[in-house]
Amino acid sequence: MTLEPIDPALVPQRVVQGGATMPGIGLGTFGSDQVPGERVAAAVYDAIRLGYRHIDCAAVYGNEHLIGESIERAITTGVPRDALWITSKLWNDSHEPSRVAPALERTLRDLRLDHLDLYLVHWPFPNTHQPGVDVGSRDSNAQPYRHERFMGTWAELEKLVERGLVRHIGTSNMTVPKLRLVLRDAKIRPVANEMELHPHLQQPELFEFVRANGMIPIGFAPIGSPARPHRDRTPGDSVDVEDPVILGMARRLGLHPATVCVKWAVGRGQVPIPFSTNPANYHANLRAAAGEPLDDADMAAIASIDRDCRLIKGQVFLWKAGQTWEDLWDLDGTITPP
Ligand SMILES: NC(=O)c1ccc[n+]([C@@H]2O[C@H](COP(=O)([O-])OP(=O)(O)OC[C@H]3O[C@@H](n4cnc5c(N)ncnc54)[C@H](OP(=O)(O)O)[C@@H]3O)[C@@H](O)[C@H]2O)c1
Repeated sequence: MTLEPIDPALVPQRVVQGGATMPGIGLGTFGSDQVPGERVAAAVYDAIRLGYRHIDCAAVYGNEHLIGESIERAITTGVPRDALWITSKLWNDSHEPSRVAPALERTLRDLRLDHLDLYLVHWPFPNTHQPGVDVGSRDSNAQPYRHERFMGTWAELEKLVERGLVRHIGTSNMTVPKLRLVLRDAKIRPVANEMELHPHLQQPELFEFVRANGMIPIGFAPIGSPARPHRDRTPGDSVDVEDPVILGMARRLGLHPATVCVKWAVGRGQVPIPFSTNPANYHANLRAAAGEPLDDADMAAIASIDRDCRLIKGQVFLWKAGQTWEDLWDLDGTITPP
């Protein structure tokens, strides 16, 4: 089957603080420790050919040097750099102020770019792990969130904006109380927060807080991350694409349940970044974003199936014995004490 390119102008655009526009769907590039970087990079080139204009990268995904070749090829074969929105993320091992600029410079070299559209702090904790570790793995130097230290990292991101190396900066995996402090103390405010968002984890409070503060919610795992690493699988995790409401809608509309999730995300106003290296799937996701939205009744039906089921719980980032993953997410509205 030949997949026809989709006009990027049909994809909803989100206006970013300062006036730039972010394409309302992006392609994820985290191979979940399973999909080789070459395969992800091939998908990036082909997805841009088919009309994607937004790519979600990260240094820790280990494939930016390969994705850079794809981006360069897309640009040299006719897609203007300014038509692309490229995001990357500062990994947790580079929060130390002296490490921020070198980390970004490495990402720019790998991606073969002279600037990024958006640079995110990947996690609010400076705690790392190796690829493929299991759920019990812990960083022996793990630290809690310390706001002054985070703002030291943030100040370095602000300098990258001032140097023209990144157009915008943002956060990821934040909570309302942490974001409140960042918004209070930042010289350059975050324009976006990347967060887990799918029908079974709608995070209404954080979602509304992000939007009320003029930030764009970028939704990761929009399909419920069916191929996520084993460390992110817990008994009791629910499966969005098997939800009877999603399945019923998919049957009635003649869609795959995954693309129902994409349409819901776009209709709600978040920017989904589904991962796929299967051309039919990433084409279908783009077509879902560019095409007919879900109607109000379908949007309301999906709003009612939230199960508060977080999939990417982040256990590997816990900083002391005896904690549970909930400690990373400030569930009572205050930052978990050190
Ligand atoms: N900021 C963060 O901390 C963070 C955390 C996690 C993820 N992310 C970002 O978010 C992206 C997406 O998250 P994710 O990869 O975990 O999960 P996801 O996008 O919810 O799920 C991806 C999976 O869904 C399948 N899929 C995609 N489109 C499909 C379709 N139309 N029909 C059927 N199956 C489909 C893919 O398989 P095929 O390849 O076979 O299509 C892949 O296995 C990541 O790649 C990464 O860029 C960020």
